Amino acid sequence: MAREKKDHTTIIAVCGKGGVGKTSISAMITKIVSEDPSLKILSIDADPATGLATSLGFNAERTVDDIRNDLIQRVEQGLSGDKQEIVTQLDYEVFEAIREKGNIAFLAIGRPEKDGCYCQVNHILKDIIASIASHFDFVIIDGEAGIEQVNRRVMEKVTHLVLVSDASKKGLNVVASIKDVSDQAIQYEQAGLVLNRIRDKKEQEALNIPPSLKLVGWLPEDEVIRKFDIEGKSILDMPGSIAQSALKNALRVMGLSV
Ligand SMILES: Nc1ncnc2c1ncn2[C@@H]1O[C@H](COP(=O)(O)OP(=O)(O)OP(=O)(O)O)[C@@H](O)[C@H]1O
Ligand SMILES: [Mg+2]
Repeated sequence: MAREKKDHTTIIAVCGKGGVGKTSISAMITKIVSEDPSLKILSIDADPATGLATSLGFNAERTVDDIRNDLIQRVEQGLSGDKQEIVTQLDYEVFEAIREKGNIAFLAIGRPEKDGCYCQVNHILKDIIASIASHFDFVIIDGEAGIEQVNRRVMEKVTHLVLVSDASKKGLNVVASIKDVSDQAIQYEQAGLVLNRIRDKKEQEALNIPPSLKLVGWLPEDEVIRKFDIEGKSILDMPGSIAQSALKNALRVMGLSV
């Protein structure tokens, strides 16, 4: 992979309650943005439960947490080594873990096997991911429910927050809290609410949206997404769909030229 630094990287984090469509929407954003072949895109699966790899048709063999766990083991076995050497080695290993297809690269964060404060390791990894991100035009992060990971383990430099909710009160409350936490913890440029699996305009208009959230678009229940999910097919191979067009519009409302 060419290591050419970009002047500006748009980092889109997709957040929301469990099951509202974060992974499908992350995959569709990846697809929409990748339609411009001059752009380099990195899609990050930051959900420990994973799923984005399947939606994008990637095979993630090695995750960032595998790399982290190996390093912790080495440190615990007393292999300290020169700090710079460790950073260089980790940087190399993270780059090696990236899978590529055309202008799309994919990286899975994985599930940490070891808890506890391995602060130094976590810090180094966060720096490495931030530095890798700067080689791409767009980074799309499929987050776990809640903002913590984006905040703590992945990167703080998110530019666009896509807050996903279904029509449920619970879903809307979760994104409202994520928005609150983000306002305090990260310096994003834009945050937009994307409603997913909405029956029709009437249903959308009847929703009581918390005032802190800015609605940028709503996606209908989409048979094409359902079909692709049932068959385990990559969203990248999906023909245009109504949800995808609605999402493209929502991204434009958020100031993205897609
Ligand atoms: N607009 C839509 N129309 C039809 N089906 C959808 C739509 N959006 C998502 N789905 C389906 O809803 C289910 C949950 O979606 P998805 O996995 O994207 O949610 P998630 O928020 O990533 O879930 P998790 O929190 O478990 O990671 C999937 O089966 C997906 O195919
Ligand atoms: Mg998911």
